[in-house]
Amino acid sequence: MHDKTVIVTGGGAGIGRAAVLLCADRGARIAVLDLDVKVAAGVAQEALARGARAAVGIGCDVSIESEVEKAVTESCHQLGPLDGVFANAGMDQGGVLHELPIDVWQRVLATNLNGVYFTCKHAVRAMLAAGRGGSIVCTSSPAAFVAFSAGGAGAYSASKGAVSALVRTLAIDYAQYGIRVNALVPGSTETRLMWANVRPEDIPRMRKTICAEVPLGRLAEPEEPARAAVWLLSEESSYVTGSHLVCDGGVLAKASVSV
Ligand SMILES: NC(=O)c1ccc[n+]([C@@H]2O[C@H](COP(=O)([O-])OP(=O)(O)OC[C@H]3O[C@@H](n4cnc5c(N)ncnc54)[C@H](O)[C@@H]3O)[C@@H](O)[C@H]2O)c1
Repeated sequence: MHDKTVIVTGGGAGIGRAAVLLCADRGARIAVLDLDVKVAAGVAQEALARGARAAVGIGCDVSIESEVEKAVTESCHQLGPLDGVFANAGMDQGGVLHELPIDVWQRVLATNLNGVYFTCKHAVRAMLAAGRGGSIVCTSSPAAFVAFSAGGAGAYSASKGAVSALVRTLAIDYAQYGIRVNALVPGSTETRLMWANVRPEDIPRMRKTICAEVPLGRLAEPEEPARAAVWLLSEESSYVTGSHLVCDGGVLAKASVSV
């Protein structure tokens, strides 16, 4: 990653922030995109302190195409041609489908799916213009493949299933230009989003339940899926495209029946 230019969306917290700091350790040039410019700028400062060659924080709502286009342009202007993009910004709002208001459905899809579409679209344009390939990593979820046992994740699952399908399509469309596109599949990871649909008083009990269900017996720290994302962004994964890198403590490998 040394001297490589990387954009991370949702870089202000959780898995995105961890990926920014790991890229910084490796001497990358990093644009941190997040909703709040102050949060993004704060993580960019942390990245500089950790050894990033350059870092900039940009306020950007990934669900608004003009903001993504502007942020990608500004990143390239300030840091140079793009080598990698981590399309990671996401949110979760639950609810069973027959009660789910259309605005909740649209909000989840706007961030998790449109956001990935806009990020990939403008990143690919910048990469094609520079003519030197690149690596794109999109954050999917086990919810793209299986239903969460807690239920009520219809909008989130639909958004992540679509991201997974999009990743395979983009990988094929842009392989000829040396642009690789892969998905990261984090399992239960200790971040704000993990507990977005859980009442604060229920979090300790839920954490205990989840630890008992995950084959590795614990939740992931944000650095763990972030390390997988950084590997996909780097040249270490030079022959990997169209794939899903599952970093879920064994959840997807486990059947739910006991025989
Ligand atoms: N934490 C988990 O257990 C888990 C599991 C599977 C997948 N994921 C996925 O990982 C990704 C990162 O989530 P996290 O767990 O680190 O969550 P997080 O809440 O810690 O971080 C998400 C970041 O994205 C930003 N963000 C949200 N909406 C945005 C928007 N419209 N524009 C720009 N930035 C926006 C938030 O401000 C925040 O900084 C998400 O796509 C999420 O769906 C998380």
